Amino acid sequence: MSDPVNRRTALAAISIGLAGLWSLIFGGLAAVFTLSPLRRARAGQQISLGSVWDFSETFQLVQHERELQDGWQSSVEIVKLFVRVDTKGNPEVFSATCTHLGCSVNWEGESSEFVCPCHGGRYAADGSVVAGPPPESLPRMEARMDENEELVVDLS
Ligand code: FES
Repeated sequence: MSDPVNRRTALAAISIGLAGLWSLIFGGLAAVFTLSPLRRARAGQQISLGSVWDFSETFQLVQHERELQDGWQSSVEIVKLFVRVDTKGNPEVFSATCTHLGCSVNWEGESSEFVCPCHGGRYAADGSVVAGPPPESLPRMEARMDENEELVVDLS
C-alpha cells in the first residue's frame, strides 16, 4: 500500500512543475509577441539607394519611402536626402530637412549652398549653418558603398 503523504507530495510537485512550464512557455510567447515590432523597426534603418555610380559629384535630391513601425501602428515616411558621390565611389549624404522648422531645403549649385525657402536658412556644402535661423547643421547621414557597389545609407 502506498503512502498517501508521498503521493500527495509527488502530485503537488508535478502540479508546480507543470505550472512553471506553462508560465515559461506563455511568458516567452508574450515576450516575442510584444518585442517583435521593436526588432522590425530597427531592421529598417539601413536603406539601399541603388548603384553608387548612378550618382555624380553634384548633389542630387533623393526621396525614399520607408515604413515606420511604432508599436503596433505602421505608417509611411518620405525621407528626403541630398546625395553626391565622388569619382572613387565615396558618398556624401545629408538630410534635406531644415533643422529650423522642418522645411525641405534646395541645393543651389551656383552658390554651393543648401537654401531653405521658408525662412531663408542657408547651409554650406558641408551642412554647416551659414545664415538664418537654423539652430544646427544639416544632419550628415552615415553612407557607404557595399560589396555590390550599392549605396547604403543609415537612417538611424
Ligand atoms: Fe528652414 Fe525655417 S524652416 S529656415
